Amino acid sequence: MTDFQDWARLVAITMEQTLSSLLPTSGSNPQRLHDAMRYATLGGGKRVRPMLTFAAGLVADADIDRIKVASAAVEMIHAYSLIHDDLPCMDDDVLRRGRPTCHIEFDEATALLAGDSLQALAFELVSTHKLSDSAAAQLKMIQIFTRACGSHGMAGGQAIDLANVGIAITLPELEFMHMQKTGALIRAAVLLGAQCGQPLNEQAMQHLDRYAKCIGLAFQVVDDVLDCESNTEKLGKTVGKDQDANKPTYVSLMGLAPAKQFANDLLNDALDSLNSFDAKADRLRQLAEFIVSREH
Ligand code: IPE
Ligand code: IPE
Ligand code: MG
Ligand code: MG
Ligand code: MG
Repeated sequence: MTDFQDWARLVAITMEQTLSSLLPTSGSNPQRLHDAMRYATLGGGKRVRPMLTFAAGLVADADIDRIKVASAAVEMIHAYSLIHDDLPCMDDDVLRRGRPTCHIEFDEATALLAGDSLQALAFELVSTHKLSDSAAAQLKMIQIFTRACGSHGMAGGQAIDLANVGIAITLPELEFMHMQKTGALIRAAVLLGAQCGQPLNEQAMQHLDRYAKCIGLAFQVVDDVLDCESNTEKLGKTVGKDQDANKPTYVSLMGLAPAKQFANDLLNDALDSLNSFDAKADRLRQLAEFIVSREH
């Protein structure tokens, strides 16, 4: 098996090419909107969600072309969520992936519409391309995906995030918020990847789901930690924003060291969930380690 770094690089390159070909072409009308969609999606990001889709696809021997479409759709939703997250009405950030945020590079209206359009395109892709041998199974995949994006998933988590600025919430409330705003899409990335492949039995799907939930929560716990202890250059986004904005985070509720410990506990739970899988799940195992040990 190739080294994790090499594999991650390969997925990132594949993703860049896939996204570039699935996005509206540069210069096509409406040009400013299409340029903003490409700006926010291409040329940056760790591509963690696509990697999870690819890795889950390996577990189920999924066809690579299906995985490319599914992971591009997930990454488009992610890019849209970041554009909107950075808007002045939300986190009001000017730096993303080491570059001006979409609304700074373009303008607020264009950024809003680029997010809307990326979301629509993501759903168009998963309903246009064949991702499963069974149409009924594909419809189920689309349901999982759309639910992960809406008011019971990412958008709902973002609403809770904004409603809780300056408010002392409990740890279970914080966990719920993080599971929705970040965990839901990460979970969908894993489940869609697996469902692009050969059907796994119920128990295997449950184990994958548990892995996805643990790693989805861990991802946002680490994001909270990095906001507190990384630096802007390394992170490509302005650090210290959570504290400045009075956001409830794992660091603000638990403290830095316990938050890191919690991320490690989640990593162990995620790895335990994969115990019944053979070496086909090794990329998922490596990704879990990467998500918790990353520095950006
Ligand atoms: C940042 O996500 C926003 C969260 C959900 C925490 P990533 O850290 O995956 O951002 P990119 O895609 O690598 O820029
Ligand atoms: C954003 O969480 C989660 C999303 C759904 C976009 P954050 O607001 O913490 O993400 P960053 O730190 O700006 O990337
Ligand atoms: Mg936010
Ligand atoms: Mg933010
Ligand atoms: Mg953050």
